[in-house]
Amino acid sequence: MLPDQVLSQLKAIVGPQHVLLESEDLQRFGVDRTTLWQANPCAVVLPSAVTMVQKIIRLANDCNLAVVPSGGRTGLSGGAVASDGELIIALDRINTVIDFNAIDRAVTVGAGMITADLQAFAAKHDLLYPVDFAAAGSSQIGGNIATNAGGINVIRYGMTRDWVIGLKVVTGAGDILDLNQGLLKNNTGYDFRHLFIGSEGTLGLICEATLQLTRPQADTTVMVLGIETFAAIVEVLEVFKTKIELTAFEFFSQAALDKVIKRQGHSAPFATQAPFYALIEFETRTQVTSVALALFEQCAAQGWVLDGVVSQSLAQTRALWRLREDISETLWHWQPYKNDISVRVSKMSDFLAEVDQLVAARYPDFEIVWYGHIGDGNLHLNILKPEDLPQTEFFERCGIVSLEIGELLARYGGSISAEHGVGLLKKSLLPYSRSPVEIALMRSIKKTFDPKSILNPGKVFDALV
Ligand code: MLT
Ligand code: ZN
Repeated sequence: MLPDQVLSQLKAIVGPQHVLLESEDLQRFGVDRTTLWQANPCAVVLPSAVTMVQKIIRLANDCNLAVVPSGGRTGLSGGAVASDGELIIALDRINTVIDFNAIDRAVTVGAGMITADLQAFAAKHDLLYPVDFAAAGSSQIGGNIATNAGGINVIRYGMTRDWVIGLKVVTGAGDILDLNQGLLKNNTGYDFRHLFIGSEGTLGLICEATLQLTRPQADTTVMVLGIETFAAIVEVLEVFKTKIELTAFEFFSQAALDKVIKRQGHSAPFATQAPFYALIEFETRTQVTSVALALFEQCAAQGWVLDGVVSQSLAQTRALWRLREDISETLWHWQPYKNDISVRVSKMSDFLAEVDQLVAARYPDFEIVWYGHIGDGNLHLNILKPEDLPQTEFFERCGIVSLEIGELLARYGGSISAEHGVGLLKKSLLPYSRSPVEIALMRSIKKTFDPKSILNPGKVFDALV
């Protein structure tokens, strides 16, 4: 419960109608896409200006009130969960285009702008914001930056980090920082911008962002190949990567495809069934398409590829993409335990063999669904909850196996979170990817920007040991 005096100060800052206290709002704003934690914030505030955010943070410091920053809440690691009486600051109303410069190909937007709206704005100006993923229709730019979102085009365009050229943030101490001002070259000491990217709301609130746009992509062609084994997927990736500039190389298993077809009503790419499928995308050019077809023949001759299809129209390209893009949404039906792991692409083959063996041995009674951005070395290993098993028990059992996956990843120099972030879900696994010295340094950095530890406490790591 918020003390009356704090409540009236919040109302004075943002306007009474922008302080939400109804249970329905608290439930809606208090969770992300994870289903493990219950929402229990004390209130939600919706500021419309950076100065309002600053006032709220100063007030929170004065009364030791924990704050959870909130974007589109499409996160998969509990980073935006408010389950312990925190105040939620939602950036929804700071959502407009603030500046656009065609010469710089740069746009400054409010952090609450929906990703798809930014993509549409760029397209209207014959430009491209290339970071894309299934949740683009509801995720917000600020949240994408706070989690350094990846997605389906990383092999070609990189992660969110690669497109952020300026940030306006309010730190946990209540200072407004205007970082990097959209500059391409700026060697003036520590680049704080990069500390805030991927910090999951633990250092400050991202309020505005300046993003680099690029020239639009040509139309693309998609090829879906049915593949015999994990090892063969990596062989096919290597063959295609050496000859073609790919815009995506994704994969999914037959189990993933079956579920998407059944629940979304999509059609199978071809009649042959295969243990795995690779979705390969490249810019449409006659020459490139004939090289791709030759590579397909080569892979089939090796026995790696069982069947395949090449899109012949934009509609078919889109339909093939749905088979991959709709997996995540489809799987929510089974309350999956989500692993989001990565290793260097060159180590993928050996790692896949080991992780496949481990998972088969440790989850004999659970259904496993594989998919992910294999071209980036990123696997989404989803374990589906059996209907009759309580969720907490299921997550406990998965958590134990995750420690073994963590050990394996540490041996391979891999990451326990490739793109979903650490949040609450992966906190206990952090030591498998980051050394004790690194985690201690993270704690010191947090103390510098958020001395009273009011921002997203308990996310990524625990502030005090
Ligand atoms: C995806 O690749 O589909 C997203 O990261 C979401 C997910 O893993 O569920
Ligand atoms: Zn992903």
